[in-house]
Amino acid sequence: MSSSTATLYGGTQAGRRVTVRDIAAAKGRHEKWPMVTAYDAMTARVFDEAGIPVMLVGDSAAMVVYGYDSTLPVTVDDLIPLTAAVVRGSSRAMVVADLPFGSYQASPEQALAAAARFMKEAGAHAVKLEGGRRVLPQVETLVSAGIPVMGHLGLTPQSVNAFGGYRVQGRGQSGDELMTDAKSLEHAGAFAVVLECVPEDLARRVTAQLSIPTIGIGAGPSTDAQVLVWQDLMGLTQHPAKFVKKYADLHDYMGTAVRAFADEVVAGSFPTSEHSYH
Ligand code: KIV
Repeated sequence: MSSSTATLYGGTQAGRRVTVRDIAAAKGRHEKWPMVTAYDAMTARVFDEAGIPVMLVGDSAAMVVYGYDSTLPVTVDDLIPLTAAVVRGSSRAMVVADLPFGSYQASPEQALAAAARFMKEAGAHAVKLEGGRRVLPQVETLVSAGIPVMGHLGLTPQSVNAFGGYRVQGRGQSGDELMTDAKSLEHAGAFAVVLECVPEDLARRVTAQLSIPTIGIGAGPSTDAQVLVWQDLMGLTQHPAKFVKKYADLHDYMGTAVRAFADEVVAGSFPTSEHSYH
């Protein structure tokens, strides 16, 4: 089946991974698609089998995997094993690796070194970095090295200290700045751009003006794709943001299951003969 006839979500790509060409074709068809984060092989397999076309190994791993209170502490060395696991656990999805804080801002050379590690050591298919015009030299260098780049604008969590907290971005005049950043990223060769926590009207206008797909998170319904951190959508996160919709309650489900196991251990009713070797 050719990439132009398959849908991105749930479609078959004839036993191969989703590529940037498939993603571009979906924009041409005005087809909406889902992206989720993933950080380990088993979860990646579940999402891959569900037909999720793009998985992001986000620097949100800093919080949901490593237990930090922001994305800032996580390093390339922390994220490479998680990215490699997601690649091994999937066979169809494009796996995008997030370049963590401090691994690309200094120079295009630094960005290329970090991105090359994700491609060579983890098998990532693309990288994501935060920022607009200030990172264009980095984007251009990566793209000219053959590395697909996903941009990220709006509430870019690596700049939380500069923003003074996790706040909606792009209101008023700063919406024009964000539009210029988005167009600059497209011009520099980015294949998609995440819009995080921006007013829905701004996201709609950016989506209409770009020929590359926009991926919203807290950006309203008009973006080409939507992304959520999987622990948020599955109900593991204790105090999720307003933009999160909970599709399951894994926190309670897992708590109930592990208490059932613990109770049976204490009562001596697990294991029974059925779960023992004879
Ligand atoms: O790190 C991450 O999970 C992200 C998404 C929320 C877009 O950047």
